[in-house]
Parts: sequence; C-alpha cells; structure tokens
Amino acid sequence: MSNILGIRGYDYVEFYVGSAKMVAFWYAKVLGMEITGYVGPETGTRDRTSFYLKKNNLKIVITSAVQPSCYEVLNFVNLHGDGVKRWAIEVDDVEGAFKYATQHGAVMVRRPEALEDKHGYVLEAAIRLYDDTELVYVNRDHFNHIFKPGFCEPRQDINIESEDTGILGIDHIVGNVRENEMNLWANYFNKAMSFETFVDFKPGDIGTKYSALLSKVVRSSDSVIKNPINEPYAAEKKSQIEEYIEQYHGSGVQHIALQTRDIIKTVAALRKNGLEFLSVPDTYYDMLRNRKDVQIRENMDDLQRLKILCDKESTGYLLQLFTKPIGDRPTFFFEFIQREGAEGFGKGNFQALFESIELDQKLRGNLDKKPEEILPPC
Ligand code: FE2
Repeated sequence: MSNILGIRGYDYVEFYVGSAKMVAFWYAKVLGMEITGYVGPETGTRDRTSFYLKKNNLKIVITSAVQPSCYEVLNFVNLHGDGVKRWAIEVDDVEGAFKYATQHGAVMVRRPEALEDKHGYVLEAAIRLYDDTELVYVNRDHFNHIFKPGFCEPRQDINIESEDTGILGIDHIVGNVRENEMNLWANYFNKAMSFETFVDFKPGDIGTKYSALLSKVVRSSDSVIKNPINEPYAAEKKSQIEEYIEQYHGSGVQHIALQTRDIIKTVAALRKNGLEFLSVPDTYYDMLRNRKDVQIRENMDDLQRLKILCDKESTGYLLQLFTKPIGDRPTFFFEFIQREGAEGFGKGNFQALFESIELDQKLRGNLDKKPEEILPPC
C-alpha cells in the first residue's frame, strides 16, 4: 500500500536544548546512538551548534544556541525547556507534498528550498504544527554526505561506550494539545497530509477517576506515519496532559515511540545505560498471567523483571515501556515498543500507566487542580 503524497516514512527529529554537547552525549551513552555529524562555530556557523546522531533508521539532531543573538533557539528553550522543535518525513516530491498541504489548510513555515554544498543538495519545506513545532518535508536523493549540507564529521574522535540498545527507528510521534484543540489538529493532519483517523478514544476510554484524556490517532493510509493527538478531559484532578501544557507553556510533542524487535534486550540495555522508566506494580503481572486470550513468545518473568508492559489485541500483541520525562520539566519522554501483530497503542495498559504517572505528578505537586503544598524531602 502507498500514500498519495509519496511519504516514505519518518526522517529526522530536531530538539532545541540548553546545551547540545551534553544532551548529545546523553543520547549516545543512554540510547546507544552514534554521533556522526556536527555544525558549529568551527564549521562556520557562528550562533548555534548541532550534533547529528544516528542508530539504524533513527536520526536525531540536537541543537543549542552559542550566541545571545540566536533568538530562535533561545526563545524556544526559554519558554518550553528542552523539546522537539521539528520532526521530518521523507517524501518523493517535497514541492508536491508542500503544495498539497498548503492548498489544504496547512500553515506555511518555509517554502521548498534546496540546501546545497559540494556533496549535492537536500530539498526541504516546512509547515506549522501545534504552537511552536514544525513538520518538515525532506528529500535527500541528491545528497551523498552527512545528514545535510554544512554538517561535517565530529571534531573529535568520540568514543562513548554503551550497551547496544537495538533501537530501529520511529514507530509514532505523539502531540499534546489544549482542551478542544484535538479535533482541530486531527482535521489539520487529515486535510493537509491526506491522513485518516485511525483510533478515536472517547470520554471514559482513557483515564483514572482522577485524571483523564481524549485521544485521536491520525495516520497515513499505509500507516508509515502514525500521530496520536491527546487533549485533557475533565476529571477530579489535573491530568498529565494539563500538566504538560502548563509546564511546556503550550502544545507540542509529548513522546516519541521507538521500535525494537527485541524489547527485552532493548530495555535491559537501556536500564544498564542508566535510563529511568515509569514504575509498574507487580500486581500488573499477576493480572497479565491470568489473561489467556493471546499467547506471547516472551518469558513472563523477563517482562516482570524489566517491568515491560504487554497489551493484547485480536490481531496479536505489543510490548511497550515508557521512560520518565528525560529533561528537567515533566514534558517530553520516550516509549519503546515491540509490535507482534498489534497495531494499537497499548490501551489495556493505560490504567496501570496513569496510576504510575499520577504518583510522580503528586510528588511534583502537580496533581491537584490547585497548587499543592510540597513538603521538602528533608
Ligand atoms: Fe505512544
């Protein structure tokens, strides 16, 4: 199956952060990625520095400002903290996809342009997503070097030892938006990108008695791009989406799910590399062992030891696990996912997941609608 806009799949994700060098080290050490490209003052870019990291099909760019004149990066980080500025999809025809998008309601950010150097050219264009995020169309068929024109080999021979995490690429990217914005953005994707609504979680589907959310998943017709969009839903306490909107100061990317073929190996390696995950109670595995509807290949003791979640669907099952927020603010986090015939997003795990998130929210004083008094830890 193909899609009418010639979308090939996810390409890169670019984060704006406070210190690119240190965050790039984290991605190399913890996620086991390789730093393969660099731009900065030494390569002729005076105001910012970017590190390009790769692991199989996963491409990440980490950018920070190195001069006070680099307002674009500084203003983003000042308002949102470290976060996703843009994510890119690779397309056959950048001009065609961009023209289709803007003729179907997309807000233009950058018209198609060819970025050139002696190694060839990369075509890019961008449209707006959410408050301050961009969706980039990219084609690099005529470029034969590191990432994009301007990127050079890393300045030093960087040798960062890390366990092999087996991460393959992006499974889905999730956006958090304000109450009553979810339908607006789902329609935006469906019109501008010719996507379709795949899943629609209604009131009561997701949440605890304290906090709840609504979610719609839009995707390309061949499912190479899957983009869930969450909005908060009224409940007794403050939902994780409200907390995100408050702490991020707007709508944006909440999490990126990374694919693996062997989640037991991946999570074991990530834990060894120091990554912190949401906690899962042992009672979750008692319930899972009692479910006989789908057989899973993996050893249940391994899942329990590594606290990996499992959700079963009529077509198969999936295994997944979520990290705690990776930065200082309770905003962006990663998910790791192994799909065995299941196309969903782990609906059966939402209850256990939400209870775990609520515990952390309470510790941060962000669970009650009114600010809680936080007792100092000592
Ligand atoms: Fe997810």
